[in-house]
Amino acid sequence: MTAKRIANIQPFYVMDLLARARELQAQGREVIHLEVGEPDFTTPQPVIDAGQRALAEGKTHYTPALGLPELREALSRWYAERFDIDVSAGRIVITPGSSTGLQMLMSALVDPGDRVLLPDPGYPCNRNFVYLCDAEPVSLAVSAENEWIPTPRQVADSWDSNTSLMMVASPANPTGAVLSQQQLEALVQQIKTLGGYLIVDEIYQGLSYETAPATALEFDAEHLFVVNSFSKYFGMTGWRLGWLVVPESFVPIMDKLAQNLYLSAPTISQYAALEALKAESVTILEQRRDAFRQRRDYLYPQLQQLGFKLSQPPQGAFYLYADCSELCDDSFSFCHQLLEEQGVAVTPGRDFGNNRPQQHLRFAYTTSIVKMQKAVERIAGYL
Ligand SMILES: Cc1ncc(COP(=O)(O)O)c(C=O)c1O
Repeated sequence: MTAKRIANIQPFYVMDLLARARELQAQGREVIHLEVGEPDFTTPQPVIDAGQRALAEGKTHYTPALGLPELREALSRWYAERFDIDVSAGRIVITPGSSTGLQMLMSALVDPGDRVLLPDPGYPCNRNFVYLCDAEPVSLAVSAENEWIPTPRQVADSWDSNTSLMMVASPANPTGAVLSQQQLEALVQQIKTLGGYLIVDEIYQGLSYETAPATALEFDAEHLFVVNSFSKYFGMTGWRLGWLVVPESFVPIMDKLAQNLYLSAPTISQYAALEALKAESVTILEQRRDAFRQRRDYLYPQLQQLGFKLSQPPQGAFYLYADCSELCDDSFSFCHQLLEEQGVAVTPGRDFGNNRPQQHLRFAYTTSIVKMQKAVERIAGYL
């Protein structure tokens, strides 16, 4: 018998599609992948070199649980130089991917039976993290009409005495929505007034195309927790490295959790990450950001021409969350048919929540424009 909470944990539906895509590829079919949520670029070479140097120098032991002191300092400087804000290294906690950071925050902030507010559609793992705390995820429906952004009013209306926490991501997965600093500040204020905590997931920070990257750390430090990662902008998904910024009073709690849950984040990755924050790597990363913008600017009008409904071009991340209601009744079977008949893989809305999932699909522009051109032709053929 497994624990009862496991029954609530949903697998990713897209994984079945991916498995089928692999089968088709093994049969010699060419599949175009628009479902993958990670950059197609490999990690910048200076970062790979730094990882190899760390290995050659025998940096193969644990670091302190909160992270390599040099990396925490380097991130503190990163905030000072890029965002002009003072975030002390002492508040920065290095984690094995932001996934572990999110679980640590949930463990520290959520009691069994608590309610946690989450935008829907949103990153699917969050509600599963809530279930792992024997708590209840509560959907805040967001839509193209409100720019996919939860409003302070919505938060207040959904809050009750059992609600302890709200989470939001900017830029967001799957919508690419970016909160303006005013919208973010209004949410921070609302949560403060309600006496709860706010987690802002900034793991797509750096991948914004209309405005300079921003951070919620500009605001209140007592009720706010920021999650970040080397996965997306820095192109280091496989190195499993992220970080948290927590209020000063939570540092000993995070230390205790880190000691028990993972002892330390991967040491080689932490040395490599030091290089990722340096100018040489950032130049490469900014070129990649430009490439993502060009891809977005290609795919967005193409999808519209095909009959998908999209509001504003999403401002960040590398996703387009398209309404397919004029083209099909059920995005899930649409995804399966598109893969079987045309060899194009996209993610069904069902992976992102319960808010009209059958009307939506997520296209990830994590592949070249040439491949996307082919995908667009194939989708047109299918339609
Ligand atoms: C919004 C969001 N948060 C967190 C994660 C977890 O990423 P990682 O554990 O690689 O840092 C992802 C991954 O896709 C994501 O999309």
